Amino acid sequence: YVDTDTSKDYLLLTNKFHRLKEDYEPEDLEKIKNWYAYGTDSKLRKEAYEQFITLYNEAKKDGQDIIINSSYRSYQYQEDLYNRYLTTKGQKETDATAARPGFSEHQTGLTIDVTTYGANNDTFEATEEFTWLINHAHEYGFILRYPKDKEHITGYLYEPWHYRYVGV
Ligand code: DAL
Ligand code: ZN
Repeated sequence: YVDTDTSKDYLLLTNKFHRLKEDYEPEDLEKIKNWYAYGTDSKLRKEAYEQFITLYNEAKKDGQDIIINSSYRSYQYQEDLYNRYLTTKGQKETDATAARPGFSEHQTGLTIDVTTYGANNDTFEATEEFTWLINHAHEYGFILRYPKDKEHITGYLYEPWHYRYVGV
């Protein structure tokens, strides 16, 4: 793997082969209002957050409720999460579902895992909110990062809830 080129800003690449340094933390992280997210300490980079708010409001007009489940995660947080997965899943399954520390898009502050009321990761794909996002997320600069049938490219199982901000 190589250290990723962080000067690419909203287009910086984070994947199995491009790593963020342990101390990489975006400078413009903003606290997400409780209104938009589960959990009390959620953060996103400023522009991604602003675009999310616009997306949220437009979705709301169409009767959809989009809630942030997870957003910015520090290197240390990701390390704990990855290690927690390892205790219940094997190495292979862990690597197909959680990024190793330094390799998670969540460390960029440009990524959200979303859900809606009453849904979980297993049921989110069947919701109207998912369908709305598939049709509209790009209008606000967000893309589905780990699509179905692209496991051989991304190295991760399908994640219908994981969106990455790349800019409009
Ligand atoms: N679940 C995604 C791959 C992550 O841990 O960043
Ligand atoms: Zn995610």
